[in-house]
Amino acid sequence: MAEIENQRQGSEEDQVITPWEVAAKEGGKIDYDKLIDKFGCQRLDETLVRRVERLTSLPAHVFLRRGVFFAHRDFNEILDVYERGEKFYLYTGRGPSSEALHLGHLIPFMFTKYLQDAFKVPLVIQLTDDEKCMWKNLSVEESQRLARENAKDIIACGFDITRTFIFSDFDFVGGEFYKNMVRVAKCVTFNKVVGIFGFTNEDHIGKISFPPVQAVPSFPTSFPHLFSGKDNLRCLIPCAIDQDPYFRMTRDVAPRIGYQKPALIESSFFPALQGETGKMNASDPTSAIYVTDSAKEIKNKVNKYAFSGGRDTIELHRKYGADLEVDIPIKYLGFFLEDDVELEHTRKEYGAGRMLTGEVKKRLIEVLSALVERHRKARDAVTDEMVDVFMARRPLPHMFD
Ligand code: TYM
Repeated sequence: MAEIENQRQGSEEDQVITPWEVAAKEGGKIDYDKLIDKFGCQRLDETLVRRVERLTSLPAHVFLRRGVFFAHRDFNEILDVYERGEKFYLYTGRGPSSEALHLGHLIPFMFTKYLQDAFKVPLVIQLTDDEKCMWKNLSVEESQRLARENAKDIIACGFDITRTFIFSDFDFVGGEFYKNMVRVAKCVTFNKVVGIFGFTNEDHIGKISFPPVQAVPSFPTSFPHLFSGKDNLRCLIPCAIDQDPYFRMTRDVAPRIGYQKPALIESSFFPALQGETGKMNASDPTSAIYVTDSAKEIKNKVNKYAFSGGRDTIELHRKYGADLEVDIPIKYLGFFLEDDVELEHTRKEYGAGRMLTGEVKKRLIEVLSALVERHRKARDAVTDEMVDVFMARRPLPHMFD
């Protein structure tokens, strides 16, 4: 209940973070410390990062090392489970609202792939085609088409076909999954969803009744073909913090219906090209770099729109250095430039004014173009048959090996 109450205050204050809207206080940046307090999650600290490295015998992923994944709920319990030699499963998802994913969408999927490889655990990926049909006013058929297109981009992130089940709500909801939805729905009043999600009297009832659909993949009994007899298997959800409201609701309800609460590991937002007041937004092409952008488009977007912390003249820049707090090229490199030494060097030189914005943008263009090119090649290799297999309701006999 405390988790739920905290959210209510969060949405009434200056910054708005919901699954559908991410906006900082006017002109400002998203205050993640405040968000942790308001949402009531825990900070992912250095000790946890070291523990992950120790348990997996692998270096921590860049997104962990650099604090991109900065908050969690009970992630320590998942590590306890793993340390005892037991397993857990991963759950993440995508709302297929556009043909192409942008770089921000890739973040949870890249990170989930690392978690799957490092812990050798099964993964369920929900495509909420129903959600986007209702929120984006897409037809049922178009949402389903987009779900399949997006599945190809997700598969291109390299998930292990022997441990991964991808499903679309329109295809999969029913049976045990639906029974769990009804169990959850009975525990959540209209007042409560208004408090958590900010629904109004004008919202159609499709929206109001949707949250249980995103909640129940957190429970292993929703997937009898995978987890039959493993009713207490713990679930870990990697996502950006915009999805937290769904899972606050889920965690509130879980013990009341006899289930384990899902654990979460949550990232900050890959910001819009224009600056850190919001997240990269799929419906504003000038704010986002898509996985389908050509090298030329990436170059143009970075050069034209990426907000620079560099000074107005070369003289001033040499004197004062770039303002790294607001500079988007350096933020983007922080997500995607893997070499820690080069990143630190660039930060130092740019911050001291010895490096110019043009040079930093040039490096960013190289890094992003290589990433997008790698993704394009991987996506081209994804066949319709592969999508069918990933999305088939099938047992995964070696998912814990
Ligand atoms: P969607 O499609 O809006 O986003 C997919 C995933 O990407 C994350 N994300 C971002 N991460 C970093 N920077 C950004 N700029 C950015 N924008 C989006 C989202 O947090 C999400 O993890 N309702 C969900 C689909 C869903 C889901 C889930 C997501 C269903 N079940 C379980 C996570 C976990 C949605 O529309 O996501």
